[in-house]
Amino acid sequence: MRLQVALGERAYEILIGEGMMAVESTWHSMPIGETAMVVTDNHVGPLYADRLRDTLAALGVQTAVHQLAAGEQSKTLASWAAIMDQLAEERHDRTTTLIALGGGVVGDLAGFAAATWLRGVRYLQVPTTLLAQVDSSVGGKTGVNHALGKNLIGAFYQPSGVVADLDTLSTLPTRELVAGLAEVIKYGIIRDAKFFEFIEQQLDALLAGDTEQLGRAVVRACEIKAEVVAADERESGLREILNFGHTFAHALETLTEYAELNHGEAVAIGMVMAAELSVAEGWLAASVRDRIMRLIQRLLVLERLPKGLSIDEMIEAFQSDKKTRAGRLRFVLTRGLGHAETSEAVSQERLRKVLERFL
Ligand SMILES: NC(=O)c1ccc[n+]([C@@H]2O[C@H](COP(=O)([O-])OP(=O)(O)OC[C@H]3O[C@@H](n4cnc5c(N)ncnc54)[C@H](O)[C@@H]3O)[C@@H](O)[C@H]2O)c1
Ligand SMILES: [Zn+2]
Repeated sequence: MRLQVALGERAYEILIGEGMMAVESTWHSMPIGETAMVVTDNHVGPLYADRLRDTLAALGVQTAVHQLAAGEQSKTLASWAAIMDQLAEERHDRTTTLIALGGGVVGDLAGFAAATWLRGVRYLQVPTTLLAQVDSSVGGKTGVNHALGKNLIGAFYQPSGVVADLDTLSTLPTRELVAGLAEVIKYGIIRDAKFFEFIEQQLDALLAGDTEQLGRAVVRACEIKAEVVAADERESGLREILNFGHTFAHALETLTEYAELNHGEAVAIGMVMAAELSVAEGWLAASVRDRIMRLIQRLLVLERLPKGLSIDEMIEAFQSDKKTRAGRLRFVLTRGLGHAETSEAVSQERLRKVLERFL
């Protein structure tokens, strides 16, 4: 399957399918020069880097590999600097293409490296987690974390192409699959009621790693993401809806220092909270909230809600959300399956009542 991200001069293709990485024709349609550097981590590299390198070698592309330690702790300026060092030492010039082979951590970091090396070289995303295939590889948000906050340093910098090889999902740990499914459910809630229904019907197959159903989910999620990004590349309006559940999620992640929940798990819990707030604000029928709740319950992540969090610290954490304007808390809420909007000012009182139900 081939999708377009319609961004004028910066338009690019997303290729989705089984075994895409090892097929030479995949790379014919991707802009790639004679040299490339694959950025990967120490889980993904040993599994897939050779497969990618061999395919590219057959096409005459010389490929270096840069491997970092897996995990969010690697999304730092220090890791970025190590990539710069290797690029400099190996004398990569402007014709080099960076290739991000891995999950969102590798994708964000390699994208930022591509944005900054020689003021910008081409890069391709080869996402290997479900989360990266449905979310982080598309849209051009790149960056690294700062000790004081996630994703504080970065750039909007679009890739030149995305290759989502569904085969890579077969080695993904269940927890990571679930994390990606949380984002998949998000697309249904914010943009496509039919897709939500599809997920309700196919969740067991998706959880079991059924490639056909996963493929359908990745395609529809990428279509929605591509459409939203094309309409609002720099998140001045519509793109905010992709943050449904995320204000809560970021607070949960920050307050537990990223140690208890992965991002998708936090998003799953955050979406339940956002649905509850949507009801409290009079936007959403309780019956729809219950349907959202029932689906997310099947991911078995709600019991991971960290214990001992206080309402005050949650509200404090919301203040540093990127959507906050002059201290006014803004939340993406839903008006029904398939519809989401940012609400201007949510009353603290209502917010407290909602949080009381969970904490
Ligand atoms: N740029 C964006 O728009 C955007 C959107 C959402 C999330 N993100 C970022 O993405 C990151 C999270 O991404 P993630 O969930 O992919 O995490 P990740 O990159 O840390 O990957 C999760 C784990 O799975 C392993 N892994 C990856 N692919 C595998 C495979 N095929 N088989 C076996 N193991 C594999 C990784 O080594 C890692 O241990 C966060 O830093 C988040 O901020 C960015
Ligand atoms: Zn997310």
